[in-house]
Amino acid sequence: MHFRLTEEQQMIQDTARDFARSEIAPVAAEFDASGEFPLENIRKMGELGLMGIEVSDAYGGAGLDTIGYVLAMIEICAADAAHGTIMSVNNSLFCNGILKYGSEEQKQKYVRAIATGAEIGAYALTEPQSGSDASTMKSRAVLSEDGSHYVINARKSWITSGPYARYLVLFASTDPEAGSRGITAFLIDTEKEGFHRGKTEPKLGIRASATCEIELTDYKCAIEDRLGEEGQGFKIAMSVLDAGRIGIAAQAVGIAQAAYDASLSYARERKAFGREIGTFQMIQAKIADMKTRLEAARLLTLRAAWAKMESERTGARITVDGSMAKLFASEAAMWIAHQAVQLHGGMGYSKEMPVERYFRDAKITEIYEGTSEIQRMVIARTETGLR
Ligand code: CAA
Repeated sequence: MHFRLTEEQQMIQDTARDFARSEIAPVAAEFDASGEFPLENIRKMGELGLMGIEVSDAYGGAGLDTIGYVLAMIEICAADAAHGTIMSVNNSLFCNGILKYGSEEQKQKYVRAIATGAEIGAYALTEPQSGSDASTMKSRAVLSEDGSHYVINARKSWITSGPYARYLVLFASTDPEAGSRGITAFLIDTEKEGFHRGKTEPKLGIRASATCEIELTDYKCAIEDRLGEEGQGFKIAMSVLDAGRIGIAAQAVGIAQAAYDASLSYARERKAFGREIGTFQMIQAKIADMKTRLEAARLLTLRAAWAKMESERTGARITVDGSMAKLFASEAAMWIAHQAVQLHGGMGYSKEMPVERYFRDAKITEIYEGTSEIQRMVIARTETGLR
């Protein structure tokens, strides 16, 4: 075991860091204030390979590994978590599922469009009445008599990138009696008849990542656009989230890194009672605890990324690895951002400094792609074998 990065991992980390520092960090506060979607930056990130890091070049991606993806996510999110949210949905929630369960035609059409940054992707699982209990969805898909297409009627909420997405991976029940075993995955083109967008959510943080409700009314989905087999949808949704949660853990590490770096600078510069505040033991304790939690979160996240790479060889499930990384890193990010605001005093509460944005952005990592409560349930169920 060693902690050295490969040449490719180092390269994607450098690429992401350079872009984050030169193109994202200078405009992050503006995008946060306006809530505008950073479309131009997302296109540029696609050109740099950041929208399909684990996608092979045969489908327009960078052809790198999960550790490379985590390293790049950390850099982008340290500059702006909202850019990272869009990046993670494209990479993890959209591309991963099609790469694993899709046909060659689906990969060529859908993965290529998203991995190159030409289009935006989204993942539609949550519904107004089903969030954590995802398998209780009400959306329905009915196979036509001639078997050529499904007619889908669906209402989905909290769809990240929904207002700008061209394609969606969407889950609907083809057999309501069968519960989670009756759910099927579909690839949806938002430019086709029957697709509608609803209200956009006004959010506390990650404000430049647009989120909305969507509705499908008698949407015709061709049989070739079904992802995987009928009834396989819930397992596809869950295995995609296993990998997605590693990306959210990386996002949390990026936010925590930014909050820590800002705190370190402030502790060195700010004077009170005639001394730098970093000389006071109470500030030193904060710095030490922030740094230790940050590095523990980073290690757990990188270990989960390594587990995903191993699982591509062994087929082992990485559910607990992803859940532990997301649980720990998101709670560490929230705690570190909280300490950062406190350490900055009044300036921490001001929009003139970025730490209040880190504090608001960190919160979502404890909620989306499964709340901390769900991650604890998943880990405990697997460990005990009890339900
Ligand atoms: N991989 C493969 N299969 C899995 C699986 C996994 N990780 N997890 C469960 N399954 C399978 C089970 O083996 C079971 O299969 P069988 O029927 O063959 O036995 C089936 O799926 C049902 O599993 P459970 O009985 O465990 O299902 P459950 O209803 O108890 O729910 C849950 C499990 C963990 C609570 C799940 O519903 C869950 O993760 N909920 C949270 C949902 C979530 O994360 N939503 C996020 C929305 S997306 C988002 O946030 C994106 C964004 O904005 C950026």
